[in-house]
Amino acid sequence: MSFLWGASLSAHQTEGKCENDWTRWEHEQATTLALKNRLLGRLKYRDRWNDIRDDLADPGNYVSGRATDHYNRFREDIALADEIGLTALRLSFEWSRIQPEEGVVSDEALAHYQDVIAELRARDITPVVTLWHFTHPQWFIDEYGWAHEEAPRLFAEYVRTVADAFGDDIRFWLTVNEPSAWVRAAYVFDTFPPTDTSILNALTAWRHLVKAHRRAYEVLQARVSEATVGLSVAAGCFEPYTDNPVNRKLANLLRTVERDAFLDACLPAVDVIGLNYYIHYKVDMLFRNLLGESRPKSDLGWPLSPAGLYCLLMQMAQFDRPLLVTEHGLADAADDRRPWYLSESIAYLAQARDEGVPVNGYFHWALTDNFEWEKGFWPRFGLVAVDYDDLSREPRESAAVYADIIAQKDWEARW
Ligand code: BGC
Repeated sequence: MSFLWGASLSAHQTEGKCENDWTRWEHEQATTLALKNRLLGRLKYRDRWNDIRDDLADPGNYVSGRATDHYNRFREDIALADEIGLTALRLSFEWSRIQPEEGVVSDEALAHYQDVIAELRARDITPVVTLWHFTHPQWFIDEYGWAHEEAPRLFAEYVRTVADAFGDDIRFWLTVNEPSAWVRAAYVFDTFPPTDTSILNALTAWRHLVKAHRRAYEVLQARVSEATVGLSVAAGCFEPYTDNPVNRKLANLLRTVERDAFLDACLPAVDVIGLNYYIHYKVDMLFRNLLGESRPKSDLGWPLSPAGLYCLLMQMAQFDRPLLVTEHGLADAADDRRPWYLSESIAYLAQARDEGVPVNGYFHWALTDNFEWEKGFWPRFGLVAVDYDDLSREPRESAAVYADIIAQKDWEARW
């Protein structure tokens, strides 16, 4: 099988008209978020302030609403992926559509996702399906939530429904997306629903997500022949800022807590590790890493480090599992850093591959612009720009850059 050249999307961020726990939270929080960012946005996003101040102060920015209407326009989006030459697309199934009520399965939702998978297959694009990308049916949150002991069983039931409906049509499955980062946002920092601040619940939810992954793994392995099942983790590269023992220990600690502990807990039920790489952390006990940061930054102010992808892949080789870079990208409305970032990062990926790291795919985040959670619509992550007035799509220059890279690299995967 060839290396998978892909892009990623998630349901809630693109489909539109979702009815899940995020939808409710957005409506409750929109005014507060707008007010908060009107006050703090100048500090947080000082380089971009003039361009985004109106969006930041607009409550409508924080409500996903029709999003990019991917639910109805998936054929157009898949055609765009095909034009770029993508051989794979990572997307998520929306649990709240498939099980709108406890114990109820929506045939309509399953039929919809069957159409999506058929469209991908017709264009010879390999689907990689994420089963949980941050959102939940409202009933699950109201009656249970991840801190409830029934949560892993309920998740496994949803996965069983999906596995029975799709079976061998889908080989690549990612059970959960960035579980540790989600637990931190939802239970510690209160930036994601259910904003249930409690360290005890955070730890319990984390444990239940591990169980949920393991159960989902068993369900998929039992029902899908040749299933390749894994999960995506928020995968920063952690290195000491200067090589002294304290910085080294700190970097190791963060690497474990933020990235590796969840994976370790899921083993051996992992056939493939999905890596969402955004940040190269240079860890320093004196916080000098925060001063005088000179690397180029994304519109969100995240420093861009292509070399960090190499560093990450080398660190992940220790897990002795095939790897997929399931997300990598940047908010860049002007598209004036993305072409460089994309090409440089893939050059580093090639280097890690040449040195024997079994990396079998790269998925750019994202195929199209989309709804960036609590930040709303203004950060532009797409290879393809979306005009939110008429929902038209327009590939950015970086889509052509990516197309050239794909056309030149016919790599074999090592499964
Ligand atoms: C998430 C995406 C998100 C992206 C950019 C990842 O943490 O999986 O949903 O849009 O980062 O922030």
